[in-house]
Amino acid sequence: MHSKLPDVGTTIFSRMSALAAQHNALNLSQGFPDFDAPLALREALAEAVMEGHNQYAPMTGLPSLREQLALQLHLHRGVTADAETEITVLPGATEGIFCTIMACVGRGDEVIVLDPSYDSYAPSITMAGGHPVHVALSAESFAPDWDAIADAITARTRMIIINTPHNPTGTIWSDDDFRQLETLSQEHGLLVCSDEVYEHLVFDGDQHRSVLQYPGLRERAFALFSFGKTFSVTGWKTGYCVAPAGLSAELRKVHQFVAFVAVTPVQQAVARFLEAEPQYPAQLAADYQQRRDMFCSALAASRFRLTPSRGTYFQLLDYSEISDLPDLQLCEQWTEEVGIASIPISVFYRKPPAQQVLRFCFAKREEVLLEAAERLCKI
Ligand SMILES: Cc1ncc(COP(=O)(O)O)c(C=O)c1O
Repeated sequence: MHSKLPDVGTTIFSRMSALAAQHNALNLSQGFPDFDAPLALREALAEAVMEGHNQYAPMTGLPSLREQLALQLHLHRGVTADAETEITVLPGATEGIFCTIMACVGRGDEVIVLDPSYDSYAPSITMAGGHPVHVALSAESFAPDWDAIADAITARTRMIIINTPHNPTGTIWSDDDFRQLETLSQEHGLLVCSDEVYEHLVFDGDQHRSVLQYPGLRERAFALFSFGKTFSVTGWKTGYCVAPAGLSAELRKVHQFVAFVAVTPVQQAVARFLEAEPQYPAQLAADYQQRRDMFCSALAASRFRLTPSRGTYFQLLDYSEISDLPDLQLCEQWTEEVGIASIPISVFYRKPPAQQVLRFCFAKREEVLLEAAERLCKI
């Protein structure tokens, strides 16, 4: 059969998690916490199920949840969004990104993707009939290269996809980056798909900047968020999109025929939890910063080079002083021989540059992080 995605296989995240399980390795590869969500949130889900919130929710999401999300946007970002017309609850950010692209990108349209990039972006563009145009982030700093981005824009460019805090590099966008994007996207009439799933994981006193806070971007942007990341429940696969009413209407047309709705009791649980604990997301950064610091300090005696992650729950480690092997091969070897699974950064690129870097997820319990660091120090 003709494949629509001939170059796509099983994602590296599934492969590395399976390899970790096979070799009983510490799994710092796939991005998910190995600790539980707040008890009150889990109880709220159990209650929602037992109370009978088990049938289809409205297509755009439970009104009570959309109201809470509007309050959250105002509380944490100073952003105003209309719960009825601008906020859509979705079965995860990945579905939201797919629906955004399907709604906006047509045959032959170009979409700029900044590499290294999350693996769903390019295949979603291809499935929509568009062409991903890969532009590499700057070497070492992983900041957007604004000259290269401007050079990549053509008359066919329809959209740019951005991600801050950034998976896999742990960098965050500056105010200047957003202003550059604002100018370019206004000048060329670009839509913006802004993946902000790690919005609450920003460290060292920095603030997350959202595309929603820049007026010139707010009018042309889809911002995607994930409860999986914010509430440590990646398996609940629920998130939301904020976009102006006209753009949200287009997104909803696609969403209603891809998934139609997000899971009802999960929506009910998150709405109740946020109503009771609106400040919960603001405490996350301190908790994850502690995990990052513990992991990085325990690696001080190792031969890895690192710059502490500024956001997300990922830490890059440069192994150039340890091995010349390609990152994918080394990842597999260390999973089997050292008992630690990580992710090779080359898989996030269309054309990987020469660099020897692995991504480790530090959303793990203290004992796992310390044991992982001890094994890495012995290499
Ligand atoms: C950058 C980025 N975007 C989106 C997602 C997926 O979010 P969700 O599980 O809500 O689909 C992830 C998950 O790893 C991610 O790292």
